[in-house]
Amino acid sequence: NNPPWPAYRGYHEFSFAHATMSSRLPTILGKAVDDTITTLNTESSEERIVDLVQCIDRMGELMADLSGNAKLRPIIDDGEADVALWNKEIAKYFQGKDFMNAPWLFAEAYKYRRLHECFSVSKFWKDYDVFYRQKCDTFSRSSDAVFELSTRFAEPFKIVDNLSADERAEAERLMFLELTQVCLWGNSTDLSLLINMTEEQIKSLQSTGGDHLAATEKNILGNHLNRLWDHVKQLRNNTGGRVDFVLDNAGFELYCDCVYADFLLQSGLATNIYFHGKRYPWFVSDVTKKDWEWLLNTMVYGQLFPKASEAEIESLRRLGARWKQYEKEGKWVYEQHPFWCTGYTFWELHSEAPDLFLHLSRSDLVIFKGDLNHRKLTYDCAAPASTPFDVAIGSMASAAGAPVIASLRTIKSDVVVGLGQDGDELAEELDKKEPGWKISGKYAVVLLSEGRPG
Ligand code: F6P
Ligand code: MG
Repeated sequence: NNPPWPAYRGYHEFSFAHATMSSRLPTILGKAVDDTITTLNTESSEERIVDLVQCIDRMGELMADLSGNAKLRPIIDDGEADVALWNKEIAKYFQGKDFMNAPWLFAEAYKYRRLHECFSVSKFWKDYDVFYRQKCDTFSRSSDAVFELSTRFAEPFKIVDNLSADERAEAERLMFLELTQVCLWGNSTDLSLLINMTEEQIKSLQSTGGDHLAATEKNILGNHLNRLWDHVKQLRNNTGGRVDFVLDNAGFELYCDCVYADFLLQSGLATNIYFHGKRYPWFVSDVTKKDWEWLLNTMVYGQLFPKASEAEIESLRRLGARWKQYEKEGKWVYEQHPFWCTGYTFWELHSEAPDLFLHLSRSDLVIFKGDLNHRKLTYDCAAPASTPFDVAIGSMASAAGAPVIASLRTIKSDVVVGLGQDGDELAEELDKKEPGWKISGKYAVVLLSEGRPG
């Protein structure tokens, strides 16, 4: 029950897999070591220092394994809920495989699991997040876009009163399309690719104005935005739907996801939103529970933006307070199933995490954010760009109970599907004209699968 196309692997020199496995991952790990050393240098307790030095030593071993292309060993039983899932997958499919000849998706995820293990077996540093500083820092450098959204949406969302029914429907449709794009492009600020960005570069990635969005819609190469609206608009008739976000990155992207979720709730299109995050640091910038709490609390109590006006700070505070209230009322629920931090693709979600599949199958719409989730949905394999999205995601579309799924993803890696009948020609043309088009994050897809009733 696998796709007929080969999965990308580190030794595929033509692919981003190769660059990632041979140079990006060691760089990311090196930065993680630097961060830990920064923390070490501020510690005073001998016990904690000695414990942390051992974490750093383990990171050194991981670095040696990665650069020496060692075989993938089982994960040490550190009490995490996902150990059995990891070791089952290694035993079943990847015995004797190394970082370069295992599928890229698996080998890359395995590196983040091993990084977690460096800390999870320690006494004092089990929950240490080597990427936390970076995640907070990037949000604090996103002030323009943060306030552009908060000043616009701090007041509860409302369509002006004196409009006809048709005009109201149109206003709501336009707002939906705009905020779906805000949510989509929020995914371009992913820290694993954008290490050391300047403030200017962040700004240009994050402009959210209307004209800007009209221009960027051209870059959505597989575009089911209208189909998505057709689905979402009828949720209200069922007394409002349940929408799930399988989250990607913390900070600015999460902030955009929340603005979007807030709109869905206030407009009565959704009544419940579930947010699915990671249990530990993952692919540098992915959301953990701590990142979730940090965002909401920093909006309400933080002093991250010394140059902001009182009105701007107040708008952010109000937005944050409203979101915290949703959480208290159970309208927003944050969850972290162990399956999300494994090396499995989502073709295997149905068989390896049936409880999660069942849970998602009760949703009216599951929105998968970002590049990694898209790779997992599509098995990260060399499918032709014309492959229909619902074919590319296998059991996530075809299994009984498969929910309606939308993938909102800026394209940052090799797998590209859902570009329509002329998709193969379009991809070929871009290959010639813009060789880096699959990793730049300039292009995107918004793809929908209708699911299959249970
Ligand atoms: O390392 C490659 C990768 O997994 C790509 O999928 C993407 O470039 C990045 O890491 C993560 O992107 P995102 O945060 O959008 O999933
Ligand atoms: Mg990510």
